[in-house]
Amino acid sequence: MSTPPAELRERLRRHHQDHVLYGWDQLDHTQRAQLVEQLAAIDLAELENLYRQVLTTKNTLPDSLEPVPLTAPTFTAEEKARGEDALRQGQVAVLLVAGGQATRLKTSEPKGMFPVGAVSGATLYQIHAEKVLALSRRYRRPLLFLIMTSPATDAPTRAYFEENNYFGLARTQVRFFQQGTMPAVGADTGQLLLAAPGKLLLSPNGHGGAFTALADSGLLSELMDRGVEHLFYFQVDNPLVKVCDPGFLGRHIATAAEASSKVVIKTDPAEKVGVLVASRGRCAIIEYSLLPPELAAAREAGGELRFRAGSPAIHVFRMTYLQRVTEMAADSLPYRPAFKEVEHFDPQRGDVVKPAGQANAVKFERFIFDALPHAERWLVVPTARAEEFAPIKNAHGPDSPETARAAMIALHTQWLAQAGIDTRGHPVEISPLLALDAEELAEKIHAQTVLLQEKVLHGPHVLR
Ligand code: UD1
Repeated sequence: MSTPPAELRERLRRHHQDHVLYGWDQLDHTQRAQLVEQLAAIDLAELENLYRQVLTTKNTLPDSLEPVPLTAPTFTAEEKARGEDALRQGQVAVLLVAGGQATRLKTSEPKGMFPVGAVSGATLYQIHAEKVLALSRRYRRPLLFLIMTSPATDAPTRAYFEENNYFGLARTQVRFFQQGTMPAVGADTGQLLLAAPGKLLLSPNGHGGAFTALADSGLLSELMDRGVEHLFYFQVDNPLVKVCDPGFLGRHIATAAEASSKVVIKTDPAEKVGVLVASRGRCAIIEYSLLPPELAAAREAGGELRFRAGSPAIHVFRMTYLQRVTEMAADSLPYRPAFKEVEHFDPQRGDVVKPAGQANAVKFERFIFDALPHAERWLVVPTARAEEFAPIKNAHGPDSPETARAAMIALHTQWLAQAGIDTRGHPVEISPLLALDAEELAEKIHAQTVLLQEKVLHGPHVLR
């Protein structure tokens, strides 16, 4: 290809994006073909539209915002039995979203490879995989574990699972699929940014990309063919998540909910969690960056925050609902703009531009929770933060590896106390393969309480 295809040149010119052809003559054959392929996948009119909306549209909140009604915080024996039954019958699969770039944690590896086990140093991926393995053993049914990656996390994630023998899971039980990308544009210009001459700057299209990626990979129809009816969804950064909590699954199934969500009660208006709200009978999540400060700080007569249903991003979705949302395609999930500092190649200067403390680019992401308002039946369950939410977002301070490790130790110490073992402040960690909750731990160690009591007093310990 000696010159760019005429149709492409014309399309770029029409949308004022011809700068992306900078340095064409210096590109080799492969680079030219790659650039043409990248450009072919982009709907320039849509992008122009999205950028225009960024400039003109104010943050639109759903009308008639109400606090979301919460169901009981504890599950009944029937609900638990119902969920367990679904797991035994293979009606549930697990979806972990792990496509994020972990910029705040300042790690170059996928966040899932971050060591977090307070004593063992187990990584987030290991902890999640072992929970899936423990559930598969407990219910004598291999639980399908879907992991959504992005171009940045895909290869290292696959290699990591391979090197670690899938943490004991069957190779066929773990299914990776990649989310799509969106081009980043200049914050002031709306023009496509280049990573280098002949190479567009693309970024993951948000976890909302899971819908189309599931469908495009064939996994959506495969799951349905296999009789999977519900998908348990969670994020890579939370080591405490109760994967496939049977009571939660059971309530979701028994009430015929299409989308069910757990929430943690927010006490600090500034906490960076999305907030679940109700609007005209539907459920929605307002992302923390989009919730106006006066609403975030509004309080009830009793002093508690009015909008306090914080999202730990733990959901169960009915497959038929996922399919419906996916078929609604483009319009069902809006693209949300995110202003970011991005290093990129500037063709005008012929050089790399390093951002100087100010957002210079707009990235576009879809959020999975923007699908919630499409659910006709939904429910919300409050969960205890100490038992289920210790996200790792930052390298230090709040929501960091230190706080997550402390939360894990505190929870496992409490499980041991319930089982009659006093750790007297010694750090302990309980492998998911030994127990997934306090009840299981108490049952398993019943016969060895005295022995374990001795063990935990001899320094940091992992109970396996
Ligand atoms: C997210 C939620 C927030 C919630 C909080 C709980 C969003 C937009 N906000 O905030 O409502 O209260 O978690 O911890 O999600 N990811 C992808 N692909 C992408 C982008 C992200 O798979 O393109 C994954 C990440 O790997 C991670 C998760 O999505 O597992 C959350 O992403 P992150 O950017 O950390 O969201 P937060 O701002 O922390």
